[in-house]
Amino acid sequence: MQLSLAIVDDEEIVCRRLSKALDSEGFQVEAFLMGMSFLERMVKHPFDIIFLDMRLPDMDGLEILRRIKGLKPEAEVVIITGYQSVETAIEAMRNGAYHYISKPVNLSEIRQLAKNVKDKIVMHRENLRLREALRGNSGLTSIVGNSPAIQELFEMINKVSPVDCNVLIQGGSGTGKALVAHGIHQLSKRKDHPFVTFNCGGFTDELISSELFGYERGAFTGATATRIGLLESAAGGTVLLDEIGEMPLTMQVKLLHVIQERKIFRVGGIQPIDLDIRIIAATNRNLKEEVKRGTFREDLFFRLNVVSIVLPQLSERSEDIPLLIRHFIEKYSLAFHKEVLGIADQALQTLLQYSFPGNVRELENIIERAIALTEGKEIGLQDLPKDLQHLEINAVNGEGILSLEELEKQHIRRVLQSTGYNKGLSAKILDIPRTTLWRKIKTYDLE
Ligand SMILES: Nc1ncnc2c1ncn2[C@@H]1O[C@H](COP(=O)(O)OP(=O)(O)OP(=O)(O)O)[C@@H](O)[C@H]1O
Ligand SMILES: [Mg+2]
Repeated sequence: MQLSLAIVDDEEIVCRRLSKALDSEGFQVEAFLMGMSFLERMVKHPFDIIFLDMRLPDMDGLEILRRIKGLKPEAEVVIITGYQSVETAIEAMRNGAYHYISKPVNLSEIRQLAKNVKDKIVMHRENLRLREALRGNSGLTSIVGNSPAIQELFEMINKVSPVDCNVLIQGGSGTGKALVAHGIHQLSKRKDHPFVTFNCGGFTDELISSELFGYERGAFTGATATRIGLLESAAGGTVLLDEIGEMPLTMQVKLLHVIQERKIFRVGGIQPIDLDIRIIAATNRNLKEEVKRGTFREDLFFRLNVVSIVLPQLSERSEDIPLLIRHFIEKYSLAFHKEVLGIADQALQTLLQYSFPGNVRELENIIERAIALTEGKEIGLQDLPKDLQHLEINAVNGEGILSLEELEKQHIRRVLQSTGYNKGLSAKILDIPRTTLWRKIKTYDLE
């Protein structure tokens, strides 16, 4: 296996010496004197190994490192530092660099280092291959579930993944929208290219523009160097536009143009740049309703909604809860180095009673917390959150029937969670005055 290797250093002599030494070791080597020209190449040709000088005339080394990891997380970066600047080297290691060397470079040290990196990459790929083979190569096993709704979802994902169309994923918060988007990417022919997520909520137009489209040096004060935007950096891959319902109307127009023309302009740029990306949009709002209300453009809705996937609430597929619990127990036992093997029946029954307004994410958080707390080999009732423990008592006393008060409390919590604790909106949905809602939040301790 021949690995591709980039050398990024503004000293020509360093580039030349390293190129020669590493070329003869069997790497396919390219050298760059500037950060920007390297990144532009990296977008089209994701290198396996990068020897990176931390001091370049046009860009900050840490920023380049961050970009590399964004484009190709498994790429290995060796930092070259001059001026004995150990601090930046350490910072770089913290940000995922493999190793660092100081100038003046020692060629035999470089060769050895490159060999070590190569071994690591080869081993990593072998592991991945084995794991894929074990999984029967479905790429979907990280989506846990067996219910008819999930079976249907698997079928849908299998069907749309190879077709290069835009997809709109709708579903309540925590239902697995991001997970499904990633699954679609993994099963598509774009899988070896980047998968990047952009969260459309909470930004100003200017920020969204410069994040998505990038900018040219000097486009505005503070734009000291050209920056590639997120859409451009995803070349060949998939972009998940998360919380698309939050995107301001003015940005919706721009996005529509991008999708239609398949071209972008960097902010301050005059050169159109071709885009080859697949767009998946996700939202927990009902976009059709937003279109009716005039807060979402209809033309953009149709462009995004070529295929629509609607994820079920966890409560609509509660038969998957035990499977999910087992999955998360394994995940967090491993993460926390604990040997938790299962869940006590009482705790399981309690979870099966619960409505999970926060869906799979809420279940995951509950199990994570329980594994962190438990002292035994099983998750017990006492390891569940307090208000869930009460649920069990209610259920036992009233044979599964909730008191009116408990029902009201759960309903309010559900509405609050589904609106992201937007109290104005929640009060509207519940059709009660805001002040009443506030009082109830206080009484039920729902803050
Ligand atoms: N079917 C599933 N199997 C396993 N894990 C799941 C499943 N669905 C969701 N998860 C897990 O639940 C968490 C939430 O999922 P994800 O982030 O995809 O949801 P989301 O719909 O994007 O949520 P939000 O609306 O809050 O952004 C993640 O940790 C994800 O791995
Ligand atoms: Mg999400």
